Amino acid sequence: MKITIDGPAGSGKSSVAKEVSKRLGIPYLNTGLAYRAFAYVSMKDGLQDVFEVFERPIQIVPQVAQTQVVYEGEDIQDRLHSEEVGRRASQIATLPGFRERINRFFRELLGEGEAVVEGRDAGTHIFPRAELKIFLTASAEERAKRRWQQLKREGLQADYEEVLKAILERDHRDANRPLYPFRPAEDAVLIDTTHMSIEQVVHKVLTLLEEIKGKSLKG
Ligand code: DC
Repeated sequence: MKITIDGPAGSGKSSVAKEVSKRLGIPYLNTGLAYRAFAYVSMKDGLQDVFEVFERPIQIVPQVAQTQVVYEGEDIQDRLHSEEVGRRASQIATLPGFRERINRFFRELLGEGEAVVEGRDAGTHIFPRAELKIFLTASAEERAKRRWQQLKREGLQADYEEVLKAILERDHRDANRPLYPFRPAEDAVLIDTTHMSIEQVVHKVLTLLEEIKGKSLKG
């Protein structure tokens, strides 16, 4: 059983994916973190050809409620959240052939096993036959508010209008990129989280899962 959780930044997908993984006791694959790991290693090792990262000893280890990233025997998780790594990740994501290659890596990593898979295009291109596909949305204003609050919690200076502007720009870029524009899968369940708590969204996902299991038992 695969559950894919997609959605734009600030839709709550990471929090929801982690919690669903925890409640079900099944591994969680954060694909964005994997993109960041490959981006980080390609920078650190100064690779001319980014595709060489697939030959490097990078281990992406999906576990319950977390995805561990190990490089050369060292946990590198906390080096992956910088703006620089994020920028590099979004650049390599647009290289021709890179998505196909990393998607193959994800499929080989998880095989037929159970998992919660989070990330852009998880339900469209990574696991198009997932049993349950969730696409979270929220108004741009609400997503900006969440991001702004998060930045403040982290003790960073942030201007709400600036954050909103960045979110609107990123939405536009993601939806209009020529290769793999960011869209929900046709058979995804859309959940608008604007007025919902994380717990409410998690509850909704688990209810949908029960419905699917019930149906498959009835044949
Ligand atoms: O989710 P994130 O911000 O940590 O992801 C980092 C970058 O990786 C994001 O800007 C685009 C890319 N990415 C992607 O293209 N497809 C995914 N499934 C996950 C991430």
